[in-house]
Amino acid sequence: MARITASVYTSHVPATGVAMDRGRTGEPYWRPLFAGYEASREWISANPPDVVVLVYNDHANAIGLDMIPTFAIGTAARFPVADEGWGPRPVPEVVGHAGLAAHMTQSIIQQDFDLTIANRLPVDHGLTVPLSLMFGQPDRWPCAVVPVAVNVIQYPVPSGRRCLGLGRAIRRAVESFDDDLDVHAWGTGGMSHQLQGPRAGLINRAWDNAFLDRLVADPEGLACVPHVEYVREAGSEGIELVMWLVARGAMADLAGGPPPQVVHRFYHVPASNTAVGHLVLQEAA
Ligand code: DHB
Ligand code: FE
Repeated sequence: MARITASVYTSHVPATGVAMDRGRTGEPYWRPLFAGYEASREWISANPPDVVVLVYNDHANAIGLDMIPTFAIGTAARFPVADEGWGPRPVPEVVGHAGLAAHMTQSIIQQDFDLTIANRLPVDHGLTVPLSLMFGQPDRWPCAVVPVAVNVIQYPVPSGRRCLGLGRAIRRAVESFDDDLDVHAWGTGGMSHQLQGPRAGLINRAWDNAFLDRLVADPEGLACVPHVEYVREAGSEGIELVMWLVARGAMADLAGGPPPQVVHRFYHVPASNTAVGHLVLQEAA
């Protein structure tokens, strides 16, 4: 059977993708940030997933404002790298897992989550930057990816509770798939940042670190935080953090099992206009 073995959480700042693509990670501005991912790269090469269920948001690149699914699942065999205006990032095409995705779609919809089925889904920096942060610059990504896209762009956005519940549904879906697969759940976006208006550049270290504390130790309490608190405390784009609750909901402790182990935790300011946060949780052995 398939099983969830770990969850990974990371910001997806597009400028970090550009730094990797252009070989600039050793520059003084970037070095401390990429140093924070070295332990995770070592860990993931020792604990490679067969599939990553990658929870991310599109930034009006593949999903425009004509139709806005709250939750969508990528069911295709392959996902092209989106052109965000400067040509696609020079990274490998993302290979899906159509069998697992079809099973997850069936299972999750029957658990009463109305997923939109995305049979064609170019993937933007929200999905490709986390892959690059964790895997570096391989010729091919070392695992398949099932994208789960969450609307955090256009209000109303889903609540933390709904996101945690989707994670629980993802766990049940994965655990009822017959193939022998190690599956990671990744939550991406955040941390505090605001890209526009008088508060552009907002960073809230105290709130971000409390979010990390509670994501580890009190996910159910954290899931009750209303979206207006994210926006007030973490800026208009800080709402991306609600997606981390989807990945957290997929861990065993939310299904009555033991708490996960913290493999790695990292927080860094600045990266472009944002605070960068990163966490790796592994299921208890
Ligand atoms: C920036 C951060 C994001 O998360 C994003 O999606 C776009 C831009 C930024 O810091 O510039
Ligand atoms: Fe973003």
